[in-house]
Amino acid sequence: MTRTILVTGGAGYIGSHTTLVLLQAGFQVVVLDSLCNASAESLKRVAQLAGREPVFVQGDIRDRALLDQLLAHHPVQAVMHFAGLKAVGESVAQPLRYYENNVGGTINLCQAMAAAGVFTLVFSSSATVYGDPATVPITEDQPVGQTTNPYGRSKFMVEQVLGDLAVADARWRVALLRYFNPVGAHESGLMGEDPNGIPNNLLPYITQVAVGKLPELAVFGNDYPTPDGTGVRDYIHVLDLAEGHLCALKALQTRTGAHVWNLGTGQGYSVLEMVRAFEAASGRPVPYRISPRRSGDIANCYADPTKARKELGWGAQRGLPDMMRDAWRWQSMNPNGYSGGRN
Ligand code: NAD
Ligand code: WQD
Repeated sequence: MTRTILVTGGAGYIGSHTTLVLLQAGFQVVVLDSLCNASAESLKRVAQLAGREPVFVQGDIRDRALLDQLLAHHPVQAVMHFAGLKAVGESVAQPLRYYENNVGGTINLCQAMAAAGVFTLVFSSSATVYGDPATVPITEDQPVGQTTNPYGRSKFMVEQVLGDLAVADARWRVALLRYFNPVGAHESGLMGEDPNGIPNNLLPYITQVAVGKLPELAVFGNDYPTPDGTGVRDYIHVLDLAEGHLCALKALQTRTGAHVWNLGTGQGYSVLEMVRAFEAASGRPVPYRISPRRSGDIANCYADPTKARKELGWGAQRGLPDMMRDAWRWQSMNPNGYSGGRN
């Protein structure tokens, strides 16, 4: 029997790559996205690559009537929930908007799911819930909650809500996937990350410097307690991440309750290592300047992915050169993202 998955936020960066992987694996996919931070063009590219289209419903996860209608019309068996706001700085300025979308929206979604008899949920959490970890690599049982901004707190709160829900009602099967730093793009160059305005994240910033849209990279601090003084993160290829969602969905078939899995590679790279790896993959120089630390940043953050390997049978397959090559192919083929068409 073909299974139908509701993908909230499926037009966005990670959701669109996961929608593609789901379609390629034979699932029916219904995407619900308000397009507040995405373009419907991403789904056209998904259809082009998959050879068939997901159903697309433009709407908001906070709209209960719409959710009820959607769940009544489509035989949804599980939900992958990517929809949410993700800009850390914006969350500090607009906390209510973040809590309403990320926490309120998720509660609304779960209420609609329960009413429709759908109890399987894969949630996009984040390594940000670990705050500044006492030790690295980070295992799932390390303390969470010491988050430094409303975005991070919204992810922590949703984890708590979903954990409580799974305790209260044994029908729920919930995966809390703590992503490390998703980067890269589909290897075709047709799909990738399309940030609004000036990117906050490192790799989109680097690719926009390389393509000439931005003059230079500001490296936020070189006096951290790391090998070269710049921040160390666990960058993971977006397709490895997408595949992790399918493995989590499969694992939930034999598990009730809420389960946490880190999705990272287990390998940390510094900002300067990222710059050098990008230059090697693209052949383009990336001018940079050492700048003051960015408020709220931490020195080291990388995963221990052992639990996902053991329980999901999943591990990242793509290395740093793949991430760099694919990010660059996407950026150079689509200098203006989805809005500019292909040049
Ligand atoms: P994204 O902004 O590209 O995708 C999110 C999508 O959700 C967008 O298409 C947006 O239009 C949609 N959306 C937002 N609010 C909505 C609402 N109320 N109703 C319907 N649609 C809505 O972001 P992404 O990078 O693909 O992230 C996906 C998820 O993963 C988010 O929940 C994010 O917090 C989480 N996450 C992302 C990262 C990262 O670095 N990209 C890291 C950890 C966790
Ligand atoms: C990576 C490294 C920076 C930009 C953020 C969120 C987190 C998560 C992923 C969703 C750091 C340095 C960056 C630049 C730089 N999102 N840097 N110059 O901060 O690890 O995580 O995105 O859950 O919640 O906080 O990712 O890509 O912003 O930074 O030097 O212009 O690159 O200081 O060391 P981060 P990032």
